[in-house]
Amino acid sequence: MDGNLRAVVVQACHNSRTDSPGSTCNEYDSAGQAVVWHREFLVEYLKLILKDFTSHMQHDKRLPEPDSVSAAHSARVAEFIRQRIAAAGGSISFAEYMQHALYAPGLGYYVAGTSKFGEAGDFVTAPEMSSVFGRVLARQAAEVLAATEGGAVFEFGAGSGRLAADILRALHELGELPLRYDILEVSADLRERQERLLRSEVPELTRLVNWVDAPPAEFPGVVIANEVLDAFPVERFRRTADGVQQLRVASHGESFEVVAADAPGMLRDAVAVIERDLGYALPPGYESEVSLGLREWVAGLGSALRQGVAFLFDYGVSRREYYAPGRDGGWLRCHFRHHAHNDALVLPGIQDITAWVDFTAVAEAAVANGLEVAGFAPQALFLMGGGLDLELQSLESLPAKKQLELSAQVKNLALPGAMGENFKCMALRRGDVKVPSAFRLTDRTHTL
Ligand SMILES: C[S@@+](CC[C@H](N)C(=O)[O-])C[C@H]1O[C@@H](n2cnc3c(N)ncnc32)[C@H](O)[C@@H]1O
Repeated sequence: MDGNLRAVVVQACHNSRTDSPGSTCNEYDSAGQAVVWHREFLVEYLKLILKDFTSHMQHDKRLPEPDSVSAAHSARVAEFIRQRIAAAGGSISFAEYMQHALYAPGLGYYVAGTSKFGEAGDFVTAPEMSSVFGRVLARQAAEVLAATEGGAVFEFGAGSGRLAADILRALHELGELPLRYDILEVSADLRERQERLLRSEVPELTRLVNWVDAPPAEFPGVVIANEVLDAFPVERFRRTADGVQQLRVASHGESFEVVAADAPGMLRDAVAVIERDLGYALPPGYESEVSLGLREWVAGLGSALRQGVAFLFDYGVSRREYYAPGRDGGWLRCHFRHHAHNDALVLPGIQDITAWVDFTAVAEAAVANGLEVAGFAPQALFLMGGGLDLELQSLESLPAKKQLELSAQVKNLALPGAMGENFKCMALRRGDVKVPSAFRLTDRTHTL
């Protein structure tokens, strides 16, 4: 454990003192005792996260059968990937497999026209769950827009367009409409869907929306990315006694299998950075993921944002938790018809493949590119600090059925067993703009 972490631990211990009078942390604790306390806490905390993670896995061992149209589509995607594997001489990196399965032109999961979001799709994101998410985020965006001249909103990966509609509507009500609302969406199919939804839900505000191919230079305002980082292709690796292997994908008859090869330099370097930061080598046999594209993406954000705040939401943990000794199977999560599991090699093109986010890596890349971490909090505390109470003020005046619906939605957004704890918000800022008020309840940047 390095000196910085020790300091963080002691600070965490002191922060928690008033909350847990019975804990071993009191003003007489030495740093050593604090470290023991923190380790125990970390182990318990990880068990909690893993319980949630593995309960999905166990629950969803039996995946539903795809319908015939989906199965035929998946067979085409599989054939496309097999051709790539053959052209590459027998195997491709896992990141390349994930890139094809999600984004192959005309074929990939996010590119072809299947339902993905909501009840009819494979998974539900926070904005699909409740407009309360977008409305609270709009309150935070309004604070930033009020402080920036000519401020705009820039959303990465807008999904169905639901979040953009909710934010625009709420900003209109708050009297803080942005100059523009730009969307960068890599999927042409989703662009079309976003446009349709916005035209039908907020027709009078659609004039503000533009679809762009890159972030603008010198951008003032608010950047939003909800569940985008988890959709970046990741490399998979295995630590061996004397090096690092890259886990690759080969074809085996009609299916795919994992094969290992010596890791290329970039992957070896990435694992070396992780181990240097952890302060120890990962044990032989340990397998996990690393997102090599993340750094470049954050660098792009750093050069785009002149003044303002980027709000990044995703399921993720700190690096210490991500690469904890017991977490030796990695953090992949796939979704098919609301079943979560970790086999990315089945159902190519018709299931979502994601990886939890190492938020320490996001923070490092941000700082390296001139951005400051303005806050890091679980989604529940972000929402509660950001005006959830104001959104619920009118709850009692609603009809009973609506009250029940809204409270069920808020529970899903905020309860620890749902999206409240595992989903985090990291805010990055640059220039003369205040820390978003949503972090008034907590800021866990010190845990990164
Ligand atoms: C899980 S969906 C989330 C959609 C939406 N933000 C929501 O919360 O419902 C992931 C989205 O990220 C988009 N995406 C993936 N990589 C991207 C990138 N490099 N830049 C912009 N969008 C990207 C996908 O096309 C998709 O719209």
